[in-house]
Amino acid sequence: MAKLRIAAVADLHYGKHSRGALHDGIGEISEQVDVLLLCGDLTDYGLAEEAAELVADLRSAVRVPMIGVLGNHDFESGQPELVRKVLENAGVTMLDGEAIEIGGVGFAGVCGFGGGFGRRMLNAWGEPLIKQFVQEALDQAVRLEQALGRLQTERRLAVLHYSPIRATVVGEDPEIFPFMGSSRLEEPINGFRVNAVFHGHAHNGASEGATSSGIPVYNVSLPLLQKAGRPFRIIEL
Ligand SMILES: [Fe+2]
Ligand SMILES: [Fe+2]
Repeated sequence: MAKLRIAAVADLHYGKHSRGALHDGIGEISEQVDVLLLCGDLTDYGLAEEAAELVADLRSAVRVPMIGVLGNHDFESGQPELVRKVLENAGVTMLDGEAIEIGGVGFAGVCGFGGGFGRRMLNAWGEPLIKQFVQEALDQAVRLEQALGRLQTERRLAVLHYSPIRATVVGEDPEIFPFMGSSRLEEPINGFRVNAVFHGHAHNGASEGATSSGIPVYNVSLPLLQKAGRPFRIIEL
C-alpha cells in the first residue's frame, strides 16, 4: 500500500487575535503531505472564539485531512466541547478515545494526562484527590487502548497531547515532569505495537524519544519545532 506522508504540530495556542499567525509554510507543506495532525493546545484559553481564529487560518491554507486532539489549554474555560465543535465544523476530525483510518493508516487519539514516569509514576494511594488524579490518567490510557483496538489497519499512530515517555519532556524543569505526561499511556502504545506517537505539551522538551519497546515518540510542540527551524514534523509511513 502507498506510503502516507504525515505532518504534525502541537501547541499553536491561538488567541482571540491570532489570525494570520500560522506559519506561512503551512499551505506549501499541506501540498506535500496527505494528513495534518494537530496535537492539542490549539487555543490559549479554550475559547470558541480562539478556535474560530484558528479554523479561519486552517481553512484558507490546508487542503488535506486534519486530525486533532485537545490539550489542557483547550479545557481552560470549561467549554472543551465548544472548541471541539468549532474545529469539527471546519472539517478537523477531533479524537477523544476515537480512531480513524486514512489511506490505510489508523490514527487513535486522546488528550492524555499527567502523573509522571516509570518508577516515579504517581500511584492511587492516600487522599481521594490523588486517587482521582491517577484515575484520570488510567482512564485516558484505557480510552487510548480502546481506540487502538478498533483499528483494523497494519499501520497505526497514536495522537496525544501529553507525553507517554520521560525522554521527550527532558529539557523542562524536572519539578514539572509529573505534569508533562504519564507512563500509563505507554502501555497501550507498546501493547498495540503502534508505529509512532506524536504529542505536544512539553514546549521545552526534546523532539524525539522511544518507548521501552522502541516505538518512536515525537514531541511536535511548535516552540520546539521552531527552535529546529521547522513549522511541522513530517514522517512517512
Ligand atoms: Fe502548550
Ligand atoms: Fe499543554
